[in-house]
Amino acid sequence: MKLNLAERLLVNNPLRALSQRRYEGPLLRRVGGRLDGARVLDVGCGSGVGIEVILKEFGAAEVQGVDLDPRQIQRAEKRFAVSRDPRVFLSLAGVNSLPFRNESFDAVFDFGMLHHVVDWQAGLAEIRRVLKPSGLFFFEEVTSDALNRWVYRAFLDHPEQNRFSEGQFLEVVSDLGLELLSQPRRVLFNDIFIGVARVPPPCSSHVTE
Ligand SMILES: C[S@@+](CC[C@H](N)C(=O)[O-])C[C@H]1O[C@@H](n2cnc3c(N)ncnc32)[C@H](O)[C@@H]1O
Repeated sequence: MKLNLAERLLVNNPLRALSQRRYEGPLLRRVGGRLDGARVLDVGCGSGVGIEVILKEFGAAEVQGVDLDPRQIQRAEKRFAVSRDPRVFLSLAGVNSLPFRNESFDAVFDFGMLHHVVDWQAGLAEIRRVLKPSGLFFFEEVTSDALNRWVYRAFLDHPEQNRFSEGQFLEVVSDLGLELLSQPRRVLFNDIFIGVARVPPPCSSHVTE
């Protein structure tokens, strides 16, 4: 679902960008490691700050940014209009129907997008579908407890049904066969959890004697 005015102001501002560059990016990199040479997807890329983080902090070779909202994609296009960075590709798409082949990304980032999606389980399944074996899923999400608090309800607009706790989110991640690299970190008064999970590597063939 698209952001309301209050959340557009909240996510598309210099303080949010600073936090993503100085805190969230480095934290995720410490857990998941660099992605030199990798092909990466940023789902719900918004204005594209996350894409810059993935290029600078992680060293990705290519980043595909998708977002459901044309205004957010326009913001991202504006961000990269001057540099015309050949590593960046932007498109209008929803997480539940990603226009990419199976197993086509080394990593996928979800910087606070899935809590906007009613069928977030289907979104996670799509993310899993496009990840290669050993691919990494970097996530930063908002808990249902936070979304139920008055300040979120008063100012922001999120799906009312099928919200998730950290435990419910991690259960689906695990059901999809991804393994957590470490226990997710809680930040911002416990409202947000941040972590990295990995698709298992391809089975190595054993030679029996
Ligand atoms: C809270 S903003 C985060 C934006 C950006 N990732 C950031 O960290 O600044 C959530 C973003 O997800 C996008 N979004 C919402 N529902 C979506 C969906 N079903 N598929 C893809 N993007 C979606 C919104 O348009 C918005 O840009």
